[in-house]
Amino acid sequence: MCVEVCDRMKGPIADLTQKQPDFIQPNMAQLNYQAIEDLVRSAGKMMLQARVMDGTVHQKQGFANFFTDYDVAIQRFLIDGFRGILPNAAFYGEEETEGNQGASAHGEYTFYIDPIDGTTNFMFGYHHSCVSVGLACRNQIVAGFVYNPYVDEMYTGIRGQGSCLNGRKLQMADNALRQGIVAFGCARYNENDTDIVFDMAKQLYLNSLSVRNGGSAALDLCRVASGNNVAYVELKLQPYDYAAASVIVEEAGGRISRADGSAITLQSPCSIVCGTNTAWEETRRIVTAAGFLED
Ligand code: IPD
Ligand code: CA
Ligand code: CA
Repeated sequence: MCVEVCDRMKGPIADLTQKQPDFIQPNMAQLNYQAIEDLVRSAGKMMLQARVMDGTVHQKQGFANFFTDYDVAIQRFLIDGFRGILPNAAFYGEEETEGNQGASAHGEYTFYIDPIDGTTNFMFGYHHSCVSVGLACRNQIVAGFVYNPYVDEMYTGIRGQGSCLNGRKLQMADNALRQGIVAFGCARYNENDTDIVFDMAKQLYLNSLSVRNGGSAALDLCRVASGNNVAYVELKLQPYDYAAASVIVEEAGGRISRADGSAITLQSPCSIVCGTNTAWEETRRIVTAAGFLED
């Protein structure tokens, strides 16, 4: 899995110039990936210092859909910091904070921010949540940063340059479902497909070593990149849930798409199936057989 020390994040400005001519080439002079990573790490430290008490937890639309004062504070902190790093960038964050344009974010550069992915875990002291930040250039994700402060794990991915976990390069083996653990996600506020989710989970369980439901889509996706999971599936996620992890997975050699195999979108929610080449295909077949149809 971790085959070599990855040193591309050491310098203050990452050099994308020699890579992937078929991908969008951002303006190098504007991009300081190390500063973005540092800010994401600092945001993660805010999570460690948080004390979730009565009065700090609030409810959004739908059943069991929570946010805390810390989700809001961390997103504010990130937007303030990113404005200094990349002026004029747009922001598609989960929370309603000043400067967040949400789904209408539009700019050459857009940050996709989930300040705490795994809010329910966070509220209940699970110590399995992360800060997730993806950076898109003209609608294509060019870099992703996912930080779990509880175990001090930083996943990074830069389009055309590979992905790393704590500086070590990630390269996925093409394992099949039967050779690994499969993670799936579901949320009580997306209850429409409950039967399909659990029919699918049963088949994933029967065709793999076991299943997990980690409560943080970004971490479960990154765990595909690092080989802990062989696949991950969730029938409805938001762009800020998967934007960062998508480039981390792809740069590690994995596949990520909607359930029907079409490309993920950054404009609206969609289903996500992710895995090694083989497990991705197997998982998509199971999801389809369970009767799932994209909205
Ligand atoms: C949630 C988590 C969860 C997934 C949900 C997401 P949040 O994000 O990623 O694992 O199943 O669909 O909404 O609300 O904790 O940021
Ligand atoms: Ca999330
Ligand atoms: Ca969140």
